[in-house]
Amino acid sequence: MDKGQKFYITTPIYYVNARPHIGHAYTTLVCDAIARRKRMLGIDTFFLTGTDEHGVHVERSATAAQTPPQKWVDKVSAEFRGLFDKMGISYDDFIRTTEPRHKLGAQELWKRIQEKGFIYKGTYTGQYCVFDELYVDSVGPGAPCPECGRPTETVSEENYYFKLSAFADKLLAHYQQNPEFIRPETRRNEVIAFLKTGLRDLSISRSTFKWGIAVPGDPRHVMYVWLDALSNYCTAVGFGAKEEDEQKKFQHFWPADVHMIGKEIIRFHCVYWPAFLMAADLPLPKSIVAHGWLLFEESKMSKSRGNIVRAETVIDVLGNDALRYFLLREIVFGQDGSFSFDALVQRYNSDLANDLGNLSSRTLTMINRYFNGSVPYPSPTVARKATDDVIKEQALTVIQEFTQLFDDFQFSRALETAWSLVGAVNKYLVDEEPWIVAEKEGEENKARLATILYTAAEALRIVTALAYPVLPESASKIWNQLGLGEISKFNLAELKWGQLPLGGKLGKVEPVFPRADKTSIERMQQMEQERAAQAASTASSTATASSPAPAGEGARPGQPASQSAHGPADAAPAAKAAPAIDGKISIDDFLKVELRVGQVKVAEKVKGADKLLRLEVDIGTEVRQLVAGIALAYKPEDLIGRKVVIVANLQPRKLRGLESNGMIVAASVGEDGKPVLASFLEDVPIGAKLK
Ligand code: ME8
Ligand code: MG
Repeated sequence: MDKGQKFYITTPIYYVNARPHIGHAYTTLVCDAIARRKRMLGIDTFFLTGTDEHGVHVERSATAAQTPPQKWVDKVSAEFRGLFDKMGISYDDFIRTTEPRHKLGAQELWKRIQEKGFIYKGTYTGQYCVFDELYVDSVGPGAPCPECGRPTETVSEENYYFKLSAFADKLLAHYQQNPEFIRPETRRNEVIAFLKTGLRDLSISRSTFKWGIAVPGDPRHVMYVWLDALSNYCTAVGFGAKEEDEQKKFQHFWPADVHMIGKEIIRFHCVYWPAFLMAADLPLPKSIVAHGWLLFEESKMSKSRGNIVRAETVIDVLGNDALRYFLLREIVFGQDGSFSFDALVQRYNSDLANDLGNLSSRTLTMINRYFNGSVPYPSPTVARKATDDVIKEQALTVIQEFTQLFDDFQFSRALETAWSLVGAVNKYLVDEEPWIVAEKEGEENKARLATILYTAAEALRIVTALAYPVLPESASKIWNQLGLGEISKFNLAELKWGQLPLGGKLGKVEPVFPRADKTSIERMQQMEQERAAQAASTASSTATASSPAPAGEGARPGQPASQSAHGPADAAPAAKAAPAIDGKISIDDFLKVELRVGQVKVAEKVKGADKLLRLEVDIGTEVRQLVAGIALAYKPEDLIGRKVVIVANLQPRKLRGLESNGMIVAASVGEDGKPVLASFLEDVPIGAKLK
């Protein structure tokens, strides 16, 4: 096959240390829409997603859940896959980094880099803060930790290093010669500016934990989790495989055309990854496309913040297409965007239920009524009006503009353009009044009616074909109702005016977008609240009780401090002022959380919610009402008088109409996350602060 006609697109592989949420769904459905469009254009497309399953964070999540790591990653990975299946994601492969094919390929990549002389063994000697579990930049034995002020210890550790410093100039030259390599432009500029400050060599092995891929020839070390994870993009399409067809697959699909990512992992993809590939003498991906963050109530939705919305909630109430349309239409791709149930329902009703839904149902219903369900013949001459041609011309312009905008990742504007045609045709119908024309006698009126309805149906067909990648389920339905069969078989590259078969029989006409009302919002909110209540006792425990070591694989020797804001693997000493993007927080962030000892005074079941208890807890200064998801594990009467730990400075939230003023801390135990309340062996006074 002609190599120019292939298209390989990837999502990040997601960490299995937390459950999937709408942020993961976002990246994945954006890629799905792109992949569907490419396939419809007749391009040989490969769409990859999957899960990132190694590293100390995953090891700790598994330990916290008292589950062997492999069992834990199997379970969470299956949840991601299950969600994507439920969302109808058309991935061609789902890679897991614990699969043998990936491990072999990742080790092969290591060996290639090593053969070319870009890996060396080095010893890091420096100051280590035992309290923060951080390597710090302080100098000299006993120097204070910049995070917490405690004296540091001098330690030495042997690791493998990658000669990243050797690639700064080559990377810069590559960015300069390939303006599309990092998109959008603003991100490209950020990476260039960062690179100009220079690159230090990168530590690429760990010997402090086991859960990873063994370093070839030295199994005391596991590979740095980002080297492991990034190589998935190659291993999934056959890199390192023995089988001939796998090797051919790699030749055919590599390099990837698009690595789609969120903006927080740009540096790994735009600096480390191309440097690893250059070192191994492999072709670089064509482009890395970074989108912004989905925000909920103005802050990044993230597992560490716990302010997440699940895709399932939206899907169960309004369907897959509602979620897809909303995220692609409402969020300006590349920028941060807010998610809210109100905006979702408003968009759904106005653009889908009203605009497209009405156009489709009124046009097809009239063809059924006045032409017995057969597409009418437009008259080329009799009873033609300029308004008919205006629609045709607009449709042709929309095809062009949509194509250009969509292929430039401007999904919102592309959809806006397509919907301008929907609006124009709805207005055309109101102006031309086919229902009045239908009541008039004579051939000329019949011809006029035929022309109006043909024009509307043909425009509807064009919008439907363009919208299919974004609205696969509903576009398929409309396409069927137009009597056109299987929409994914249509060749989008040939889309033009005048392809609707004249005299063709319509399919069964049914409403496609039932209107959403206020109860839809309430239902979605309720579903999220119930989930939050279930998680209420478990969320805090992973941050405190079950994860005794505050820092992860984070700070490692030899990493520039300025990389600290970029994800869990890179939290280096200077992370102090950096926003908590992914897991690591500074001591200041931790101190923002007010943990206090309280005593339960009142405990009772919440009507209609079998998991919830209403508690009144004395925290020394006041008695607080809390609603906690612990009713399956504790009887109310057993709690009275008990000392518990609560997060005292949480914003209040309502659960089942009751205000909950704080959160009770518990460990989450076993596969079903049974809560076990944090408690003390010694007696502690009410109101004591934990730190
Ligand atoms: O970073 N808004 O995995 P991860 C938009 N395993 N997108 C979001 C989002 C939000 N609020 N939250 C998550 C990792 N995402 C590594 C990647 S790749 C070789 C290894 C999406 O589970 C977005 O695509 O933290 C982001 O980059 C990705 O999920 C991070 O997923
Ligand atoms: Mg992340």
